Amino acid sequence: MSNAKTLSFVHRFEPATETGRPPLLLLHGTGGDEADLIPLGRAAAPGSALVSPRGQVLENGMPRFFRRLAEGVFDEADIRRRADDLADFVEEARAAYGLAAPIALGFSNGANIAAATLLLRPEALAGAVLLRAMVPLSTPPVADLAGKPVLLLSGMVDSIVPAENASRLAGQLRDAGADVEHAVLPAGHGLSQVDLTRVAGWVQRQWTLAAPRSVSAA
Ligand code: MLT
Repeated sequence: MSNAKTLSFVHRFEPATETGRPPLLLLHGTGGDEADLIPLGRAAAPGSALVSPRGQVLENGMPRFFRRLAEGVFDEADIRRRADDLADFVEEARAAYGLAAPIALGFSNGANIAAATLLLRPEALAGAVLLRAMVPLSTPPVADLAGKPVLLLSGMVDSIVPAENASRLAGQLRDAGADVEHAVLPAGHGLSQVDLTRVAGWVQRQWTLAAPRSVSAA
């Protein structure tokens, strides 16, 4: 049975089963949907609320979060518009479900829209896990990401994301003030068990760090 309300994106919602844990915003890759990352979200952040929207762009019938002109060549005007739409959806979901600002957990196209949303609408996200992300905007906006935690996991033999591109994204986020952890894993574009282990450890550290803040905010 779905707990999801009718909001601007088709989505899945799973309520938190433990208090004080930041919610996750799950953002699937090309051709995925709102069900794809639920198992990863549950495994990496047990007890957290999960909000998982479906991308609104269709490429040959495959859902995505923004248009591209070719693989790795993005329609940046569309990215800006879609990042805005996604940030608006996050606001709606927070109001509808009573959530704190979520940490985005995105894979591939979902990681790219998460990076764009961080840079364009930083207030929408508390941080991000970017799996196999690349630079979404050739000229990044001036953003204040001070104190936002970001985990970027790249693949050493990723046939879609060149190593230089992933490092450039890490640099852009660091320049904006984010607290970036960037690791290059012995993997390709696909995810591995190592990703899950790294993500789960990082999320656990965010909970530990956030705990005193939630107590004092109560
Ligand atoms: C993108 O289009 O966002 C990236 O090329 C990753 C992909 O979805 O294949």
